[in-house]
Amino acid sequence: MWTSPRFLMATLQAMLLLWTCMYTCGATRGRVDYDMIEGLISTSAAAAVKVGNISKVEDAVYFQIYYGQTFKVIKNGFDGKSYLLSQNTSRMASRTKYCTSRIKSFVIPLSNYSVDTSFFSISFFELLGLLTSLKGITSLDLVASQCVLKLYSDGGIEILNKSETQQLTRFSAHFISNAEQSQSCNFATFLPNTEDTPLQRAEWIKYLGTFANMEFRANKVYDAVKANYLCLAKAAANKTTSFKPVVAWLAFNDGEWSFTQDPYKLKYVEDAGGENIDKSINKATYNNTIPDDCEDFHAILCTVDVVVDETYTSDPWHYNVSTFLQNINVEDRSCFAFITKQSLWRYDKRLQSANSLDFFDGAISQPQLVLADMIEAVSPSGNYTTTYFRNLVKEEAITNIKPEMCDRDVSSALEPTIVDC
Ligand SMILES: *[C@@H]1O[C@H](CO)[C@@H](O)[C@H](O)[C@H]1NC(C)=O
Ligand SMILES: *[C@@H]1O[C@H](CO)[C@@H](O)[C@H](O)[C@H]1NC(C)=O
Ligand SMILES: *[C@@H]1O[C@H](CO)[C@@H](O)[C@H](O)[C@H]1NC(C)=O
Ligand SMILES: *[C@@H]1O[C@H](CO)[C@@H](O)[C@H](O)[C@H]1NC(C)=O
Ligand SMILES: *[C@@H]1O[C@H](CO)[C@@H](O)[C@H](O)[C@H]1NC(C)=O
Ligand SMILES: *[C@@H]1O[C@H](CO)[C@@H](O)[C@H](O)[C@H]1NC(C)=O
Ligand SMILES: *[C@@H]1O[C@H](CO)[C@@H](O)[C@H](O)[C@H]1NC(C)=O
Ligand SMILES: *[C@@H]1O[C@H](CO)[C@@H](O)[C@H](O)[C@H]1NC(C)=O
Repeated sequence: MWTSPRFLMATLQAMLLLWTCMYTCGATRGRVDYDMIEGLISTSAAAAVKVGNISKVEDAVYFQIYYGQTFKVIKNGFDGKSYLLSQNTSRMASRTKYCTSRIKSFVIPLSNYSVDTSFFSISFFELLGLLTSLKGITSLDLVASQCVLKLYSDGGIEILNKSETQQLTRFSAHFISNAEQSQSCNFATFLPNTEDTPLQRAEWIKYLGTFANMEFRANKVYDAVKANYLCLAKAAANKTTSFKPVVAWLAFNDGEWSFTQDPYKLKYVEDAGGENIDKSINKATYNNTIPDDCEDFHAILCTVDVVVDETYTSDPWHYNVSTFLQNINVEDRSCFAFITKQSLWRYDKRLQSANSLDFFDGAISQPQLVLADMIEAVSPSGNYTTTYFRNLVKEEAITNIKPEMCDRDVSSALEPTIVDC
């Protein structure tokens, strides 16, 4: 049925008020509001929207996008916030300014934005070609993108002091990846890391795309990344047949070793044709000064074929196989297959500083590259050059990310790297 734009707008506003009330009036949070949005916006607006340049969420769990004719609503299922994005050409853009604990409004396309760089994956903006509207960042030390470094050195980006709130409110949007902090009206959370699988995390490019009317590009990049990821996973499933190599992600922290449980890391192992250490074995932490712990840990490591050592260090450049073995603290290493077969890795191959590994930036928007690295670890071809994984046994060098390495026009979009499959 045809719905007039004015009716739609009135409906949305009524709805937004209703939500506010549902939350502030203390109604139980549930599916009610969600279904209501689906019902009211999606179905009535679907006919009015030009199909093809909307983004549909296929894999991600924690966000949804709803389209009206002159506005969009993003609902973030992790922090419960909704953003009303109104087109700059619409009347709503000048009339409507929501800033409640649950609803905020933004005028799109954003003319400029800033980013809180702690644990933020800026590469999503690069894939969309939006770097030239990035005008401020909170720290240079936390940036792993060579082109952001270049923009900064060319004077296009200023460094913002996080403690001075008025510095952060000058932009059309200030993107943050920590939903806990207190927020001003122009703050928008971007939370790909809340998702459990590599592809779900990568799909958050669609979330950012809506702020710039870049749905077409966001869909295109995600489709390319996903197709390449699935192709690699399919080919990998055939490479290891009878016994899948056992892969362990480990970290040494404060005198103790532990196995990583992050679901997306375990998913990389499965998709690369490897096998994770059984949950019944890898629950505990192992204190490397307690002999029984050392013994147990030693025994488990004897069953492992591939190790990814995630141990944090302030000096990755001097972290080598000896550092790893010292922390393990066992004399007899003869049973360590990952040493004899040269499959001990760290994900710090590309970094700008000890705190800015590209594994926490570019790898999130392009998971097909991590999968390709993991496949090389699980079934080595010997001739694939990994992107993020550094082979400790082979003493692979670290690449230091520098502004001079930015080899494209910063106003153009970064193309995703498609791995031969
Ligand atoms: C979608 O966007 C692309 C690129 O901007 C454009 O060429 C195409 O015509 C648009 N499609 C629709 C249905 O609006
Ligand atoms: C809306 O945004 C577009 C793209 O940034 C810009 O060219 C245009 O001038 C803006 N229009 C208004 C009314 O602000
Ligand atoms: C940031 O602002 C705070 C509070 O105004 C100030 O104490 C601090 O020195 C500033 N930091 C830098 C690096 O300028
Ligand atoms: C960002 O864009 C808004 C809206 O166009 C403008 O008012 C503001 O001055 C811009 N901020 C900066 C820091 O350029
Ligand atoms: C995987 O192996 C099966 C059975 O041997 C074969 O039919 C299939 O084509 C292979 N797939 C790929 C992607 O190589
Ligand atoms: C490890 O064991 C030592 C010796 O028992 C103890 O002093 C230390 O606190 C333990 N470390 C942790 C992190 O529990
Ligand atoms: C590892 O690094 C340490 C300190 O930098 C150095 O003394 C040692 O020779 C290195 N070991 C290997 C195997 O490269
Ligand atoms: C890499 O090695 C494999 C197996 O040895 C071979 O089939 C493939 O052609 C090689 N690829 C390149 C790019 O050399």
